[in-house]
Amino acid sequence: MTVDLQDLERRALEALAAAQNAEALDAWRVAYLGKKGELTLAVRGVGQLPAEERPAYGKVANEVKDRLEAAYSARLEALKQEELERALRAAQVDVTLPGRRPQLGRLHPATQTLRAIYAIFARMGFQVFRSREVETDQYNFELLNMPPHHPARDMWDTFYVNEQVVLRTHTSPGQIHAMRAHCPAPIRVILPGKCYRYEQVTMRHEMQFHQVEGLAVGRNITMADLKGTMVHFARQMFGEERRLRFRCSYFPFTEPSVEVDMDCIMCKGAGCRMCKQTGWLEIAGAGMVHPVVLRNGGYDPAVVAGFAFGMGVERIAILKHGIDDIRYFHGNDLRFVQQFA
Ligand code: FA5
Repeated sequence: MTVDLQDLERRALEALAAAQNAEALDAWRVAYLGKKGELTLAVRGVGQLPAEERPAYGKVANEVKDRLEAAYSARLEALKQEELERALRAAQVDVTLPGRRPQLGRLHPATQTLRAIYAIFARMGFQVFRSREVETDQYNFELLNMPPHHPARDMWDTFYVNEQVVLRTHTSPGQIHAMRAHCPAPIRVILPGKCYRYEQVTMRHEMQFHQVEGLAVGRNITMADLKGTMVHFARQMFGEERRLRFRCSYFPFTEPSVEVDMDCIMCKGAGCRMCKQTGWLEIAGAGMVHPVVLRNGGYDPAVVAGFAFGMGVERIAILKHGIDDIRYFHGNDLRFVQQFA
């Protein structure tokens, strides 16, 4: 039995055009060109023809086979191309979409406060002098007029690295470094940095915190210079209406020594929770540089005098922003740090 080859070719080409994916195309190949495909069977049917008709039928059948194979290859290629284009379209970047804003980091509130402090003191002519966080016992205590076994060492609960080396408990050892670096020239520096104390952590105490130390050394420096500097700082930081008081205190490295209090920014001196009903907030320890310390720094206390102060940076930030717990500073809670743009 022979087949109408023209009709077979027409049907096959129609079916090929309708094949929309790789599976349909493969099914088409099996249906027409496979071992038991229509065309393959039609070609085999040549044997049933009278001998004189065979060459013509065979020739047409081969031509149809060539054309169908070529059409199949072309369709396969076209489908691959379509698929590629679809994938490219899916991965396409829409350049008209608005851009995504990159997430910007921001400065930690302690760093922001430090920078505000630097700016205020820079305007008063103070330079920043940095010194190390890991200190020797000699600089942290001895050269600051606290020989071994001096009872005042108990004012600072100290992390010892070994018998001679400590994590500095305050920025005051920087005073000696600054004096030795500048002597005999006059000095006006601030010494910012981290300090460490073996503290019970509470709402107002951390084991790690920042201080900014201030030091001025030169001829004719008096307590009035210290008071003026502190008042100017407080008014720049907390507002022009701020008032300060200087309360007698004790530090081994200053004589006389004072605590610097500022009228409470919340209640303006009336008494509230923030100032524990006293009307005052402590902002720094300070005093006139002790003659022993001046001498340890290389200066002659008969010729020069100096004042020094030390303040807690987190405590300043707490007052400035009304933060109620110092533990937020190192709590790693983004909700806290993100409030300080
Ligand atoms: C001192 O550290 C002296 N070196 C300050 C000084 C410098 C006096 C120069 C005279 C001349 P005091 O221990 O009081 O002093 O600390 C100073 C400030 O550091 C405190 O007022 C407080 O603001 C801050 N501070 C102290 N301990 C902690 C702590 N555990 N956590 C957070 N802040 C603290």
